[in-house]
Amino acid sequence: MEPRMRPNNFSKDSMGLKIEELALQEVCEKIPTPFYIYSEANLVETASAYLQNSNANDLICYSVKANGNINLLKVLANLGMGFDVVSVGELKRALKAGAEAKKIVFSGVGKSESDLKFAAEQGIYSINIESAHEVELIKNLKESPRVSLRINPDMAANTHPYIETGKSDCKFGISETEALEIAKTYSSSEINLVGISAHIGSQITDTELFFELAEKLQALAEQIKKLGHNVDHIDVGGGLAIDYQLENQYDPAQLVKELKEKITGYDLLMEPGRSIVAQSGAVVTSVITEKTNGQRDFLVVDVGMNDLMRPALYSARHTIEEVQDSNAESKNYEVVGPVCETADSFGQNHNLNAKTGDQLIIYSTGAYGSSMGSNYNSRPKPAEILVSKDSFKVIRKAESFEDLIRLEEI
Ligand code: LLP
Repeated sequence: MEPRMRPNNFSKDSMGLKIEELALQEVCEKIPTPFYIYSEANLVETASAYLQNSNANDLICYSVKANGNINLLKVLANLGMGFDVVSVGELKRALKAGAEAKKIVFSGVGKSESDLKFAAEQGIYSINIESAHEVELIKNLKESPRVSLRINPDMAANTHPYIETGKSDCKFGISETEALEIAKTYSSSEINLVGISAHIGSQITDTELFFELAEKLQALAEQIKKLGHNVDHIDVGGGLAIDYQLENQYDPAQLVKELKEKITGYDLLMEPGRSIVAQSGAVVTSVITEKTNGQRDFLVVDVGMNDLMRPALYSARHTIEEVQDSNAESKNYEVVGPVCETADSFGQNHNLNAKTGDQLIIYSTGAYGSSMGSNYNSRPKPAEILVSKDSFKVIRKAESFEDLIRLEEI
């Protein structure tokens, strides 16, 4: 059998799976499954890859929506990273983690007047404007915050339709024509227009698209500068893919290097989420039971679509492996959760050797895993664990039943 590929800092020996220098079995003996587990070294490696070729004036803003756990944000803030937020909640998380306000950008298609006011009061790096209405609201704020125009460049990211954001009929951003209109209508004393930004989608495998986008944004920035605005940065958004099959690695350092070569006269801003945190995280789950229905063999596990909804929502496939060392015959299973929906499935044809009571690991779930989790079926959210070398700590406790009903009048 082919040796399994694993994310960096995940390995296997006769004691079973290891994360960094810690045997996962040790965690399983202390923490009930399911739980999310992250490798700090993996997180630091990918974040550092983004930072290594950027200059002091450039800003790599980790996209908090991918995973907003404050303890992970702290690790990134300590590396000097900035943050991309899309709500006041995410902004507060970043600040709580120790982020400098002047390293935070605020995007989002529906920011309210009070959201904008709060962000302006913090003195953040930039508010990324997504409508003419927002310009009016911002013009009336006394802080005169730095703003960037988020462009909808009408580009396909060639990704899942739910995460395409840069086509002309997507709800995000404003057209280049509208951006120029805004730049003509408002003088630099009315709005502090300092950036041009875009985000064309997520899980982008073709890096040429970033260069094409950078060129477009730079050409527009030149025109807007001629209208008297002090544009100082180009923000190409996030979106770099990861390989869920764990065969290839996309290279953030190379992407930043090439973007820096292409963008001249402006600081570079990026908003990566998935490519920083996805491979550092995994879900550990136990097999509740094995069963066969019709022609299909199932492993029913204790993690469900409420905890990890990417497979149900986007038909995403995550690699699954046994936690225990295993040389015995494996079999093709559909791995399914306990939630009452047929969509609660982590996919068919997972080749596994597992029986009731064994643990499995679901890889590449650090991004859009816990952050998209819900309490559907009244299931408490699982614990989150951070591994550092040979030790681990709980960075989010598992929810209890009491947590679920706390806000209900009873
Ligand atoms: N900037 C903006 C304005 C965004 O909307 C996003 C993601 C990012 C940055 C970060 O993109 P990333 O580097 O993570 O691809 N739940 C989906 C992904 C949704 C992405 C939404 N926007 C998934 O699990 O595939």
